Parts: sequence; C-alpha cells; structure tokens
Amino acid sequence: MNEDNEALVQRIAKACEEFGFFQVINHGISMELCNDVLDVITNFFQLPYEEKAHLVSPNHMEDGKIFKYFIKDQETQEKISMWGEAFFHTWHPVHTSFTLSLPQNPPRYREIVGTYAKQIGTLNTQILSLISQGLGLHKDFLHQSLNPTYTAQANYYPPCPRPELTLGLRDHTDFNILTLLLQEEGVTGLQVLKDGKWINVNPSPNSLVINVGDQLQVLSNDRYKSVRHRAVTNVAKKRVSFAMFVGPNEHDCVSPISELVDENHPPLYRSYTFGEFIQEFRKQEGKTRLVKEVFKMCD
Ligand code: OGA
Ligand code: NI
Repeated sequence: MNEDNEALVQRIAKACEEFGFFQVINHGISMELCNDVLDVITNFFQLPYEEKAHLVSPNHMEDGKIFKYFIKDQETQEKISMWGEAFFHTWHPVHTSFTLSLPQNPPRYREIVGTYAKQIGTLNTQILSLISQGLGLHKDFLHQSLNPTYTAQANYYPPCPRPELTLGLRDHTDFNILTLLLQEEGVTGLQVLKDGKWINVNPSPNSLVINVGDQLQVLSNDRYKSVRHRAVTNVAKKRVSFAMFVGPNEHDCVSPISELVDENHPPLYRSYTFGEFIQEFRKQEGKTRLVKEVFKMCD
C-alpha cells in the first residue's frame, strides 16, 4: 500500500480480474493490533462452553451471535456441521457504539475490535477508491454510491483429528462488496479456487487478505470476480480469522454500473435490491449457493 497510486490501481485491478483475491502489506495497521485482535477472538472462542452457550443461535448472521455452518444432505435433509464456529456482529468505521453489544469477556474485546474497526474503515475507503479508479470511475464512486453496511465474522477452527473428512468452512463466495480478512499466520486454512484447483492462501507477514464479493462482481458487470473459497482444518493447530465485510444497505439498488455498460458490454444482471439478494441467499442455506446467478440475464 506504499506504492504510488497508479501502480496500486493497476495491480489491484489485475488481481480483481484474475483472482478476485489479493493480499495487502504496508496497510498501516500495526502488527501489534492485528495480533491483539486474533488474541481476543481466540480467548472469546476458548471461553468455557457455559459462558458462550447463550450466544449460540440457529440463525445465520444474527448480530452478536455464534453460528455453526452446515451442509444439508440433499436426500435426508440432515444438517452436517462444519468444523468451525462463526461469531457475527456489525461494526462501524467511525462510531464505536457498536462495541457495546460485543462481549464483555474477554475484557479487552470491545476496545480492541473498536480500534481495529476504525483502521479497517480507513483501509476500506482506500481500497474502494483504488478499485473505483481501476474501473475507470471517479475515486469516490464505490464509496459514495451505496449506503454501506458493515458486518463482521470471527471464525474459529479447532484442531481436527481427520481434516480429510471435513472442512472448516465449505466453499462459498462472499456476498457483500468487499471482504478484508485478517488470518493467523503459520497455519494453512484459506484456499481459493483458481482454474479448477484449490490453492492455499498462506498469509504473508503482517498482511491482510482482500477479496471481491458478489455485489462488486455485479456492479462491475463481471469484470471483477467473486471467487469461491473455503477453509480447511488442521490436525495439530487451531486457527482463527476475522473477516470484515462491507456491503450495500438492504434498500440499495444493485445493478451493473451504467458507465461500464455499452453496446459491446450489455448488462449481465437485472437490477435488484440488496434485500432481495439476501432473501435468495437465505433460501439457499445448506446448499452450494448460486445466488447472483438468479439475477443473471440470459445472454
Ligand atoms: C469468510 C471466510 C475464510 C477463513 O469468513 O467468509 O471466507 O480463512 N473466511 O476463515
Ligand atoms: Ni468467505
């Protein structure tokens, strides 16, 4: 992130087109803070079961609740849990009042996540600006065209005796605009699908992983790809990660950006509200989701 603007615009544009994923270094968020975030998340998930049992919810993405992802067996409809837990909450880049609904134990959870959220907010603005420029748009375009909502998912994957039998997180695409992911170093987990193969995204020191979400794929009229990814488990080590998502507001209308559409590039998606998209997302729970495909127009 300390290269000159034009170089960053080009490199990020290329990464968004080819991989839908990239890692950033020199992002301005201290290693100490990143480690503190991973520590408080670990401490939270390692609390005795009785202390967090009341937070477990059967509803995906409930604010301040823990959810266990599952696959639904297509024949029996039985739910098969993934080898991991996810803690959801909203966040905000400016107003730290969101931390009041975060756990009070571990004691530093609120303070550390509040500080981190501000810095991730700044980085998000920078990245959205670079992505806007890469699409040939005004630098504030993506940041200003939607009313952002900010959600986060802390992931915990315990050691797993038989990693070949399960996954920490099944393959999926992120459904927001952008994801900024902090992951623990020294443990393999995140894998991205590239040309039909799963490739490991091993964290570079003090890096963050950024990826394109479904809404950015639609807004860019398929120029940028929201790529399938998953998390595998490890025999010996637990792993934690912290995903901060930036998405539209449920009332926002999403469609390919008109500046990117012309006779040679007809719009590939019909316009929809993000609320409609979430409804469709929920309908496909437990399956290999194909949500944006529902809004795709026939060529
Ligand atoms: C996610 C995600 C990957 C990871 O939270 O959406 O893809 O490495 N996480 O935990
Ligand atoms: Ni994801």
